[in-house]
Amino acid sequence: MPLNQLPTDLENLLERHAHDPTRLLQILREIQEIKGWIAPEVVDALAERLHLPRARIEGVIGFYSFLHAEPVGQYRLLFSDNITDRMLGNQDLLTYLCNKLWLERGHVSEDGLVSVDTTSCTGLCDQGPAMLANGWAIPNLSRERLNQIAELVLQKLPVPQWPRELFAIEDNIHRADILLGNTLQPGAALRAALERGNEPATEAAANARSWREANPPAALGALTTLEEIKRSNLRGRGGAGFTTGLKWEACRNAPAGPRYVVCNADEGEPGTFKDRVLLTSQADLVFEGMTVCAYAIDARHGFLYLRGEYRYLLEPLNAVLERRRAANLLGKNILDQAGFDFDIEIHVGAGAYVCGEESALIESLEGKRGIPRNRPPYPVTHGYLQKPTTVNNVETFCAAAMIAKNGGDWYRGIGTAKSAGSKILSVSGDCARPGIYEYPFGVTVRQVLSDCGAENTLAVQISGPSGVCIAADEFDRRIAFEDLATAGAFMVFDASRDMFEVARNFAHFFAHESCGFCTPCRVGTAMLQATMDKIAAGHGTQYDLAEIDKLDRVLHQSAHCGLGHTACNPTLDTLKRFRPTYERRLKSLDFEPAFDLDGALAAARRMTGRDDAGAHLRQETEA
Ligand SMILES: Cc1cc2nc3c(=O)[nH]c(=O)nc-3n(C[C@H](O)[C@H](O)[C@H](O)COP(=O)(O)O)c2cc1C
Ligand code: SF4
Repeated sequence: MPLNQLPTDLENLLERHAHDPTRLLQILREIQEIKGWIAPEVVDALAERLHLPRARIEGVIGFYSFLHAEPVGQYRLLFSDNITDRMLGNQDLLTYLCNKLWLERGHVSEDGLVSVDTTSCTGLCDQGPAMLANGWAIPNLSRERLNQIAELVLQKLPVPQWPRELFAIEDNIHRADILLGNTLQPGAALRAALERGNEPATEAAANARSWREANPPAALGALTTLEEIKRSNLRGRGGAGFTTGLKWEACRNAPAGPRYVVCNADEGEPGTFKDRVLLTSQADLVFEGMTVCAYAIDARHGFLYLRGEYRYLLEPLNAVLERRRAANLLGKNILDQAGFDFDIEIHVGAGAYVCGEESALIESLEGKRGIPRNRPPYPVTHGYLQKPTTVNNVETFCAAAMIAKNGGDWYRGIGTAKSAGSKILSVSGDCARPGIYEYPFGVTVRQVLSDCGAENTLAVQISGPSGVCIAADEFDRRIAFEDLATAGAFMVFDASRDMFEVARNFAHFFAHESCGFCTPCRVGTAMLQATMDKIAAGHGTQYDLAEIDKLDRVLHQSAHCGLGHTACNPTLDTLKRFRPTYERRLKSLDFEPAFDLDGALAAARRMTGRDDAGAHLRQETEA
């Protein structure tokens, strides 16, 4: 292809994205999907068309693990590599497939047809082991399924033409409560919110009666809806647990300018998949919650940031958006309320866990590398394009819709005094019924274990690697902000599991996902991974264990974002609760280098024909 010339399909693609540089990630992702990689001449042409420096485009390609500046094969098969996939045998299956295709893991086959590698958790822990085939998720891998996949690859059948049943993904909802069990008609929550403009429902809203003189019913309805959200005590479900009403209020009160609503559907925390199920089974409720938020904060534009691993949900979600536009639940003058204009578009990520951090997500939405911003200022005042932006988790928006319909008092009557409402748990690991369980806040870990059919449980990892690992003597603790706060992951490990290996898998995860922006995290996560590998290889010492403590302190004090702050959590938690599994691997109490220098000189000894004491480092030192 001549320099700076794009084929017609790519010209059309750019046209569709209005040559807008903030769409860069979407443009690159779509090119990757069509071409299988992003060639240098495509980068040149994009730089010219989008008026961006070439380095900026290359930087974005290099940042996201699903974008490639070199060919990775016509078929790119990525095995999900969460600890739960490992427990279900993903490593054996990966080797099996590589052997079948005559491939080395991580390398493209000589004919350029296929490559096989691993990727971070794909959010299918309830039906693993899983893989992505050219970005499309396939659950329940087995040797039989891999035989079929290998056959399809060798036949060179395009992935979209592979049998549909390979891609069938279950919701696995085992316990539904107020969110998953709701029977709201689309628009019911919005209607309730709009009606509040005519009849303030709460005392606080009634006190704002002077508003009525100054503002039309639409503004009064927005204010009273906001009051209901505040009254409900709803707290964010994405991890940090910030009070949603206060966040919305701060955004509404931010200096005028276009405001934005962003739904965080990045769901990258290993072991978490409840947003996947909400987006599949309750998409209307998610969009309704976003629209309620837009009404409350006076926003016109919303984004749903969908993680790349959930690419298969893009078309179904767009179909729901279309239906809502047709039903006057999105678009102009929503439900005939003059001036209530709001619409939503979906952005798809490209494989970067850190993009779940809200400011990194906003950078990514703007078409940049997903590097977390300095905070303050916070997104509520300086978010998307530096404008006021409310970012909430998928589950938070669902809860907000239910509150708009049923009121704040109804909501805070559910759960505990400090944790209102329900929590959806993604249960995986050693249990008979992995899947989705929604409970009012306050449920004990023991109850969840009993419901999911877990036996002989050694430990539960709550809220993923960045959360907390608890042992059997803590199973009466409760899922609630005041005890075990969680974004949703609930990974079960029975007595046959080695908690050191669990923590080692998580250390690899953090090292892989560190965005590299700040030195403490970039170096610290790599050092943690190296230390865990050193211990696994039998070279660990007490000195190494003490070093992990120091590393944790450094990361807590100086890492730029939550990823770095929490990277040592799984290691320290398992060290505290399951120390013997570390200690039985230790070689000595003294420092032992990970690198065996004497062993490395063996080749030189062979070449020189020497094997006397003087040719050995250790003997020399000891002499
Ligand atoms: C490394 C990292 C990853 C995160 N991933 C997610 C995520 O996948 N989904 C999410 O909702 N929040 C995630 N968060 C939290 C967000 O930054 C933010 O607090 C959240 O989206 C706010 O929504 P909420 O108030 O409804 O919880 C992550 C935070 C960090 C530090
Ligand atoms: S702490 Fe880690 S993930 Fe966060 S900005 Fe620094 S390098 Fe990136």
